[in-house]
Amino acid sequence: MKHVRRLVVATANRDKITEIEALLDPGVELLERPSSVGEVEEEAPDLIGNARLKASAVSDATGQPSLADDTGLFVAALGGKPGVRSSRFAGDAATYAENVSALLAAMDGRVDRRAEFRTVALVRFPDGGEVWVQGVVRGEIVDRPRGAAGFGYDPLFAPDGGRGLTFAEMTLVEKNRCSHRSAAFGALAVLLR
Ligand code: IMP
Repeated sequence: MKHVRRLVVATANRDKITEIEALLDPGVELLERPSSVGEVEEEAPDLIGNARLKASAVSDATGQPSLADDTGLFVAALGGKPGVRSSRFAGDAATYAENVSALLAAMDGRVDRRAEFRTVALVRFPDGGEVWVQGVVRGEIVDRPRGAAGFGYDPLFAPDGGRGLTFAEMTLVEKNRCSHRSAAFGALAVLLR
């Protein structure tokens, strides 16, 4: 594939960059999105479309290869919702707690609790070429929030093979052993070598 040493990351969130840095090879330098490139509207119908919108905005503005990711929680009994709208399930400016409450309410009385997290990570090159990967973790939605670690829907999601613990009951090291994000960036690291 392409041997990439330097990527401009579409997020301006320093914590996210540090997390991604730990998942890619040490030889790949990540640069923060320049402040001249604003936040991109995530208006595509799927994860790959949103990742592409974000990465294209940055590589068009900088002339450098850029990296963007997009994640969603897809619940079988809800026809794949919240999916691409995971951060806005309870409304446009919803907090994590509001999204968790909305998902619990939507799952009330449901027998089929199967769900999966999917992360798409996409690198776009200035010539318009791209590579992308998807990481998936399957599991189920538990019947009440459990655990205090992590973020987002972590208190409601118990991954298969995780001894029944939710992501929020795991350490970050444990979560990263099986998470959608580490699967995606692990695969991307191999592609960029
Ligand atoms: P993003 O594309 O990484 O910003 O993720 C979109 C939304 O998915 C977030 O606002 C969270 O609600 C949810 N999400 C993403 N990753 C995770 C995770 O690892 N655990 C729990 N929720 C997550």
